[in-house]
Amino acid sequence: MAPPIAAIVLAAGLGTRMRSQRAKVLHELGGEPMLAYTLRAFAANRPDPLVIVVGHQAPEVEAAAQCALPHYEIQAAIQHRQLGTGDAARAGLRMLPADFSSDVLIGYGDMPMLKPATLRDFIEHHRSSVSELSFISVQMADGGFYGRVLRDAHGSVEAIVEARDATPQQLTIGEINTGIYLARAAFLRSALAEIQSNNAQSEYYLTDIVAIARRLKVKVNAWIAPDTAEFAGVNSCEELAQMEAQLREQVNQRLMKAGVTLLDPATAYIGPEVEIGNDTIIGPNVQIMGKSRIGAGVLIEGTAWLRDVTIGDRSHLKLGVRAEQCFIGEECEVGPFANLREGTRLEGGNRIGNFVETKKATVGRGSKASHLSYLGDTIIGSETNLGCGVITVNYDGYDKHVTRIGDRCMVGCDTQLVAPVTVGDDVYVASGTTILRDVPDGTLVMSHHPQREKPGWTKSWHRRHADHPKARGKTTNGGE
Ligand code: UD1
Ligand code: CA
Repeated sequence: MAPPIAAIVLAAGLGTRMRSQRAKVLHELGGEPMLAYTLRAFAANRPDPLVIVVGHQAPEVEAAAQCALPHYEIQAAIQHRQLGTGDAARAGLRMLPADFSSDVLIGYGDMPMLKPATLRDFIEHHRSSVSELSFISVQMADGGFYGRVLRDAHGSVEAIVEARDATPQQLTIGEINTGIYLARAAFLRSALAEIQSNNAQSEYYLTDIVAIARRLKVKVNAWIAPDTAEFAGVNSCEELAQMEAQLREQVNQRLMKAGVTLLDPATAYIGPEVEIGNDTIIGPNVQIMGKSRIGAGVLIEGTAWLRDVTIGDRSHLKLGVRAEQCFIGEECEVGPFANLREGTRLEGGNRIGNFVETKKATVGRGSKASHLSYLGDTIIGSETNLGCGVITVNYDGYDKHVTRIGDRCMVGCDTQLVAPVTVGDDVYVASGTTILRDVPDGTLVMSHHPQREKPGWTKSWHRRHADHPKARGKTTNGGE
């Protein structure tokens, strides 16, 4: 069995270069906070415990972390004042059991492109090199704001110097610190106790543990990772947008290789966790996010916003569908312009047409609501047809109530169902009916006012308004 490993992800900073009130790690990429990506890469290596250091917007960051890894117990350490990455690592380390003596993996929460397999290779390399401290470095033509890796004449790592503290000579160094470290717990405890804040930013730098290791003559090892792009940290809105473009490109490539047609990849915004079957066609301007699962042979015409939806094979989403936390079965037809809210379940072969809103609505096989409806807190059987303008009246100002409609019903246009109410199987509802009471199976129900006619009424109406400024030309109209 592999030796245990603990992990600490630093995510307490505000990220001043983002120029935002929102903590940096909460800024979104592919529809998810960037922290989610880093955390998943860490969690894939099964650290125990997995600690996240929070500070700015601590409750929101902690919630986002838990949401990214719902099946993982994450421990949050609070860093009250953001005194630097070294100080944050100290806060994280305090969460480990006092007797924890194995390796601790530390990384920053702003590295969303990091791959789990890269971390795994790094961990293996650290172990086989029997180092006390390892970190990942990469070669870069222009190191920008990144810390530079200083090596001695023999090529051994001496220190990491932050760009702001570096001499012009040091700034030309092409090997930079990615910000991922692995160290024996005992070494970390003593090294972090030693770091000082006498530098350009008056911060406690985690990077100083490298020079400390060197001074203590313990073995330090920098593992040069092959793919630089994985370690790009997001520090500004511009970098966030560049990464968004990169990520989308990767996702789109993967999908197209798997047989998904993207009519315009430039406007396909598909999250990294989304799965799509082959022979599915996705039109322009489509956003699919969260844990969505789209089947095979699906057609999404365009301009759709979908989050956490499941769509069965051969379904057809027409222009302008918004759907969230929904299940859309096989061979459904949805839209144009439909709003499927959370808890909608279309069992299959359904048609949900234009200007229909659904919420917590189960629609049985083959049932249809083709035009202008609101279906909330509703359970509808199979092969039932809801006419234009059918509305469930589900809210009394205090509580929501359920409407049940059976199988093979014909619910006429402009019907209101005042919940709680149950309509049986094989019921015909006349148009314009307000259903207030339960309706038994096989019944025709209507609540029409009897129709009356007043011949010639229109003409007399206009005559009574003969002096009205809008009367011109009307007083003689209206038949006799
Ligand atoms: C850091 C490294 C730098 C490296 C770069 C890679 C240090 C001193 N520098 O610089 O060598 O090349 O990352 O991307 O470590 N954080 C806290 N508490 C704090 C300060 C920061 O939790 O008090 C967290 C931030 O939320 C962030 C991470 O630590 O997720 C890194 O902080 P950041 O300010 O982005 O460090 P860099 O300047 O990019
Ligand atoms: Ca950074």
